[in-house]
Amino acid sequence: MPRYVHLGELPHKHHVQFRKPDGGLYTEQLFSTRGFSGPMSTLYHVHQPTEVTSFEDCGSVAPTYLDDEPLRHRHLRTKRLKPSGDAISGRVPLMGNQDVIWYQALVADQMETFYKNADGDECLFIHDAEGTLESLFGNLEFKAGDYLVIPRGTIYKLHFRSFPVRIIAILSFGPITIPKRYRNEYGQLLEHAPYTERDIRVPTELVTHRERQTTQVMIRARNRHTLYTYPYHPCDVVGWDGFVFPFAFSIHDFSPITGKLHMPPPIHQTFDGHNFVICSFCPRMLDYHPQAVAIPYNHSNVDSDEVLYYVNDKFGSRKGIEEGSITLHPLGIPHGPQPGAVEAALGHQKTEELAVMVDTFHPFKLTKESLELEDSDYWKSWQVPQ
Ligand SMILES: [Fe+2]
Repeated sequence: MPRYVHLGELPHKHHVQFRKPDGGLYTEQLFSTRGFSGPMSTLYHVHQPTEVTSFEDCGSVAPTYLDDEPLRHRHLRTKRLKPSGDAISGRVPLMGNQDVIWYQALVADQMETFYKNADGDECLFIHDAEGTLESLFGNLEFKAGDYLVIPRGTIYKLHFRSFPVRIIAILSFGPITIPKRYRNEYGQLLEHAPYTERDIRVPTELVTHRERQTTQVMIRARNRHTLYTYPYHPCDVVGWDGFVFPFAFSIHDFSPITGKLHMPPPIHQTFDGHNFVICSFCPRMLDYHPQAVAIPYNHSNVDSDEVLYYVNDKFGSRKGIEEGSITLHPLGIPHGPQPGAVEAALGHQKTEELAVMVDTFHPFKLTKESLELEDSDYWKSWQVPQ
């Protein structure tokens, strides 16, 4: 995040003595996400973040991809998922590649154990629940329609106020950032960007757990889970500052960019990943040229896989989808409006669509879990009725 944030107590300089009320020293931790030259924050702990009671290898969590799947358009119905697990154990890998993994979850239970993803940044899209993200950086309230961007290495727990909860969990092996073209040379969001700093919500309440109490954290690193047991609560931070922290951004705060004629998908971009983008399709006024065709043209994404998650069922150019559907339009074959969709859209002034899209520059590989959700006739939806 190109923004400086601080919370709690801080000493007046880095790397100086910072004392507890009893005279002991707080422990300083540099929390960086790219060596010593990328974004970083500095945290001050009550305990030593290096002290560990024990650890236990819990095995591989690398998705198993299907290598020999035919090239065709896909439709996955996430409504077929049964409530299962917590916000981590309930994640079902649907597709992935070397840059990003798409997990879907229908969460049934609260998280009992803290989690740390050291493999990559996470972008969670919360479809339908309110709750609190508790982390090293403090508490952050979230609600339906929020993206939660959680930097790698953040120890956190999600608390939901109701169940089940639909979540997309996007794991990015590279950093998730705000698109460069939205920012000036100082990192500040520019006037033409579809959101501003005021829309970014950061942790506001720092709860410092000073007591020594056995606490476990499931750590994902190198595509394995290791259960770490600590003799203290990991959220023992009295203060932190810097440019690395989890944040929330609501899809409902995305201000769509509209035009006289059809605007291409990059106007929907919300976040940037390494070799992929995350976009938000939001309710907006449609193209205002009197003869405008206000839905997408056919496009040959020969170098890009396109995945859309339909937050509602009102997507103008697509037929046969439902709330919670996912479509995958793979590179190599064109896609576009289904027969009749263009004619049906003529004269429309507004769309109520709400969708999350991930476009990748390397092909997604499907998992066997994804095939269990598939509507295998979707590719036929472009056939012209005779
Ligand atoms: Fe498309």
